[in-house]
This record gives sequence, C-alpha cells and structure tokens, in this order.
Amino acid sequence: MEIWETVVGLMWYSSKFVFSAILVLFACYCIYIRHIHQKFDHIPGPPRPSFLLGHLPIIVQELRKNTVLHDKLLEWAEKYGPVYRINGLHHVTIVTVDPEATKEVLMSPKYPKDPTVYKRLFTLFGQRFLGNGLVTVADHDLWYKQRRIMDPAFSSSYLRGLMGIFNEKADRLMVKLAEMADKQTPAHMHGLVNCVTLDVITKVAFGVDLDMVNNNNLPFPNAIELCLKGMIYYIRDPMYKFFPWNRGFIRNIKEAVKLLRRTGRAWINERKKAMESGEDVPKDILTQILKSAEENKFDDDSQELMLDNFVTFFIAGQETTANQLAFAVMELGRHPEIMERLKAEVDEVLGKRQEILYEDLGKLTYLSQVLKETLRLYPVAPGTSRWVADDMVIDGIKIPGGFTAVFDTYVTSRMDRFFKDPLKFDPERFAPDAPKPYFCYYPFALGPRSCLGQAFSQMEAKVVMAKLLQRFDYSLAPGQPLDIEDIGTLRPRSGVICRMKQRD
Ligand code: HEM
Repeated sequence: MEIWETVVGLMWYSSKFVFSAILVLFACYCIYIRHIHQKFDHIPGPPRPSFLLGHLPIIVQELRKNTVLHDKLLEWAEKYGPVYRINGLHHVTIVTVDPEATKEVLMSPKYPKDPTVYKRLFTLFGQRFLGNGLVTVADHDLWYKQRRIMDPAFSSSYLRGLMGIFNEKADRLMVKLAEMADKQTPAHMHGLVNCVTLDVITKVAFGVDLDMVNNNNLPFPNAIELCLKGMIYYIRDPMYKFFPWNRGFIRNIKEAVKLLRRTGRAWINERKKAMESGEDVPKDILTQILKSAEENKFDDDSQELMLDNFVTFFIAGQETTANQLAFAVMELGRHPEIMERLKAEVDEVLGKRQEILYEDLGKLTYLSQVLKETLRLYPVAPGTSRWVADDMVIDGIKIPGGFTAVFDTYVTSRMDRFFKDPLKFDPERFAPDAPKPYFCYYPFALGPRSCLGQAFSQMEAKVVMAKLLQRFDYSLAPGQPLDIEDIGTLRPRSGVICRMKQRD
C-alpha cells in the first residue's frame, strides 16, 4: 500500500512538474513573440486578430472561403503601402511591391529561397513530395549543381528541335476540337489544354507518349490537382492536418504523391535500362535527371533526388502553361476585337500551312503581347519568397534581419501605381515600343531562381494558340463565372467552356 501511495505521489509531483515546465516554456514563447512584435511593429500592417497566431486566422479564413489570397495581399498593399508586415506565430513576413527592393533581392544569389515555405514542400503530409528538386531546393550549391546539369535540356538549340512535338501534340487537340465543333459539343478548354501540356511534357521531358487528349481516363491530371490543393492547405493552414474530418482528403493527397513518385520510378528505370544497353536516348530532361544522380553514383539520396525532380517537372512543366492558355482563351472570348487582330496576324504569318516553324514564332509578335498580358492579369504562379537574414531598408523603412520577403506579381500587376487602368486586358502594354515594366511584372520570377521553362512554355503556348486561331472561331458559353480559382497556382474557375466553329 505504501509503495502504491509513493508511486501515486511521485506521479502527481512529476505531472505537476511537467505541467509547470510546459507553462514556463509557453510563457517564454509568449515573451519571445512579444519581443518579435516590438522589433517589427514599426512597419505598417493590418491589425493582428490574435497575439499568438498573428494574421494566420485571416489567411485560413480566406482559404476556407475559397477566395484568391493574392486579392487580400493587394488590398493590404493599397491600404498599408509598398512595405507591410504579416505575423504568424513568431515568424514575420514582409510583403513588398517596391521595385528597387524587388530588384535587389530577386536578382541576387545572396538571398536564398525562404526555407519556411520551400522546406515544408519537401514532404506533403509526411509523404516525400518535391524534396530537394529544382524548384524547392534552398541550398545554393545543391541548386546550382542541378541547374547546371539541367540547362542543356532548355538551350535554344535543343528547344528548336522540339517544334515537331509541339506541333504534333497541338494537332491532336485540333482534331478533337474539330470533332466537337461538328457535333456542337461544348469544349471544356482548360481540361483540353491541360491534356495537351501533359502530353507535351511527358513526351519532351520523359520520352513517354500518353495521348491524354484522346485518353482522358488516366489519373495524372487529377493527381496533379490533388497535389496542388494539398500544397496550399499544407502551407497556409498549419492546423489542417489535426482535424479528423480532413483525414480522407489527406489520404487522397498522399496517394496522389505516391502515384507520381511510383510513375517516376518506373519511367526512370526504363530509361536507365535503355542507357545501360547502349540504346540511343534523347538528351531530354529525364536523361539530365539521371546524369545528376550518376554524379552521386546512384546512392539512396540521389535516387530520391531523381524522383524529386521527376515530380517537380511533371507539375511545374505542365499545369502553369495549361492555365495560361485557358486564361488567354477566356480573355480572347471576352474581347472579339483582339481575337480578330490576332487571327489576322496568324493568317498573315501561317496562311493555311499546318506545320508551325521555329522562325514563325518570332513573327507572331501580337500573340506574344497577348500571352504577356494574360500573365499580367493572371500570373499563374503569382508569388515567390526569399529569406533575408540581415537588416534592410525598403522604401525608407528599416527592417531588422530575420524575415521572409514576399514578392507578388499578381499584386503589382493590379496596382494603378504600376499599370494604368490595371484591370483592363490590353496587349498594347507590351507593344515593342512601349516602355518595359520596371521590376513590377515578373510572372516567371526574376534572377537566378527564375523559371527554367520560360522559353519552353511560351513556345508551346504560341504553337497551341496559333493553331487554335488559325482553325476555329469560338465564343464563351454564356452564364459561366469568369473568375479565378486559387489552388496555389491560379486557374480559371469555370474551366472556360467554349462553343467551337471551324473557320472557312
Ligand atoms: C506559363 C508557364 C510557366 C510559368 C508562369 C512559370 C512560372 C515560374 C515561376 C514563377 C517560378 C519561380 C517559382 C518560385 O520562386 O517558387 C518558376 C520556376 C521554375 N519553373 Fe516555371 N513556369 C512556367 C512553366 C514552366 C515549364 C513548362 C517548366 C519546365 C518544362 C518550368 C520549370 C520550372 C523550374 C525547373 C523552375 C525552378 C527554377 C530554379 O529554381 O532554378 N516552368 N516557374
């Protein structure tokens, strides 16, 4: 009995001790948060709804309302000025639209990608996801090593050789659209261009012919969408995973990640075998991915890194271009006069010729302007962030080191401070003689960590758009919402439903 009493007594004291220790730790944490507030509160910013969580409740609320978070950031930029502060626990984020700060930070290799965002994407709900792939890797040396190896697959001479594939895959869509026009079936343009860009990336990057345009029961588009949706819940709502009712969705997200990595493993092994048996393989992205692993003698880490990059290119190389194309189709549907001018340009450059040549792309200057203006109003990958360790002065405000700097081209593109009548879709802003926007338009990011696939994606987009306009008249089906869905990347919510008609 005495022993039992001693044990209970000890448990009582130890639990009291643990409880007191937790209280002390919590109090210390609160003091630390207070200190952070004092350090940064001279910077303007929206009122904090919670001492502990800072502005996180507002962000979670926006997420639940299914709105575009960047609209909130825009509202705050208009209200609080070119530099403002957002708090989340002890973490401080500075959002700035100041062109000089944008130039200084994004153009310099001195500021790494912000680990609080990019390191989180190493996994998705515990499942290895983008890991140390090219988009998410924060360590400069590891990034540089990978980028150097990947560069040849994006050189202009290599891209020139891809015109055949761009043409072939876009032609498949045109055949499909012609059938839909004949049968007067409405065309779900976002879904269709998504299939084309998936066909292109799998062929160009991995040497695999999926023919998604005619085979739309493959699981990849759905898996990519799940991963993207998973990413925003994972990053913007730290509590999401703790609610039991989200478990089913999280399970689906993890399965989607597993599917992409399993596919990568299978395709990589196939290519490895082909290389080992001396077959002639293309110098494509998959070959470069294998090369980077070879440098590390195919150890376990490098095997995983190969899959990180496989998933990175599978997602980054496809969805963004499809969204841009869908927004362009939507805006042309809303502006028949711009569509007519574009058709005239396409007719002049291509006539009735089906095969688009590399040389034609440079002549489609108005189409370039339309694609640029599309990315101004709809920058499909709107923001990027960097870690700033040292003190910095932005727009006259001294900011102590140790914060995340966020740059958002959606916000700058919609401010009349930078673009007159910003909500007007006006390709003339990008006319050859118009002044170039000064560090306030960067849909492909800027500097060393800017998009590797920029030229690739715009060649692909031009081929698809030119063929579409060469062959079809179309109008937007009435009654569909024309707003934006924010699933981390931006896409048209309605899917852009069109009525197609073949041109004479
Ligand atoms: C309209 C199409 C596209 C847009 C708007 C776009 C936009 C971007 C942006 C904003 C970034 C920087 C991301 C960040 O800072 O977190 C980025 C990075 C990247 N993109 Fe794209 N992208 C597009 C298409 C593509 C395509 C087609 C590929 C590949 C075939 C690609 C591959 C990459 C890679 C590898 C990076 C990481 C570069 C690095 O850090 O070295 N992108 N892209």
